Amino acid sequence: TKILWNDQIVEEKEVKIGFEDRGYQFGDGIYEVIKIYNGDLFTATEHIDRLYASADKIQLVMPYTKDKLHQLMHELIETNELQNGQIYLQVTRGNSPRIHNFPNPAVSSVLTAYTKETTRPLAQLESGVKACFVEDIRWLRCDIKSLNLLGNVLAKQEAVTKDCFEAILHRGETVTEGSSSNMYGIKDGVLYTHPVSNLILNGITRKVILDCCEEIGLPIVEKAMTKEETLQMDEFIMSSTNAEVMPIISIDDKAIGDGKPGEFTRKLQKAFEQKIP
Ligand code: PDD
Repeated sequence: TKILWNDQIVEEKEVKIGFEDRGYQFGDGIYEVIKIYNGDLFTATEHIDRLYASADKIQLVMPYTKDKLHQLMHELIETNELQNGQIYLQVTRGNSPRIHNFPNPAVSSVLTAYTKETTRPLAQLESGVKACFVEDIRWLRCDIKSLNLLGNVLAKQEAVTKDCFEAILHRGETVTEGSSSNMYGIKDGVLYTHPVSNLILNGITRKVILDCCEEIGLPIVEKAMTKEETLQMDEFIMSSTNAEVMPIISIDDKAIGDGKPGEFTRKLQKAFEQKIP
C-alpha cells in the first residue's frame, strides 16, 4: 500500500525519515487516527480540526491547508482501495540537529499517513470488556494529541498484563479517561463523563456519543467521577475511534451493574451505528 509523505503519495520504500527527526528523538509531533467505513472517512472534518488545533498548541506549522489534507487523504484511500480500516497520520516538527528548543531557522514539518485494513471489534462490542484502574501519571496537557505516549503505553501494558482491555486512568480519586479512550458512567438514567479540559483528550467519538445521548433522551452531566462512584454506576462505557461504544462490564474484577452491557449502552450503540456511513 502507498503512503502519504508530506504532499506526495508514494511507495513505502521511497519514504525517507531522518534519524534526527524530532518525532523520533523527542516525540515532538502530533497525530490522528481516523476510521474508514465503506470507503468513506468518518468525522474527517472533526479529526482534521483537532489535528490543526494540536499543531497550534505546540506552535507547529502545518505544511498545507486543511482542505488539501482532506483531499490527499481521500486520494490515499482511493489509491489503496481501502474499504474498511483506518488512517494513521502524524506530523513532526521536522529533521534537524538534536537540540531541545525549536530549530532556528525553522525546518519543514514532516507528515506521514498510511492506511490499514481493520475490522470492527464486533465480539467485544457484544460481550463487553474488562478494565482496571491505573494511576494517571501523564503530563497536564492531555488535550494535545501528542506523539509522547509513554504514560499511555505503560498504562495500557499494565491493563493487558491484568488481562484487561483498557486502563481507567485516575488522578488521585478522580477518574480522567482511558489510556486511549474516553470514559462514561450511567447511573439512574444520567450519563456522566469528565468535562473537556487539559486532563483529557477531547475525543471525536465522545462528541458523537453526546449527540447520540440527545437523540435517545439520555441526560448528560459533564462532571468527573471518583473511583468509588465509578464502581457504583449501573453501566460503564469507553469510547474511541476504533473501540466505538464499548461496554465495560467489570473494573478490577468488580462487576458493573449485573456484569452485562446495559440497556442505555445498547441504545447508544444502535444510535452510533446509524451514523456510520
Ligand atoms: N486514541 N483519549 C486518549 C488518550 C486517546 O488516545 C484517544 C484516542 C481517545 C479517544 O479519542 P477519539 O474518539 O477521537 O478516537 C481519548 C487513538 C484512537 C489512538 O491513539 O489510537
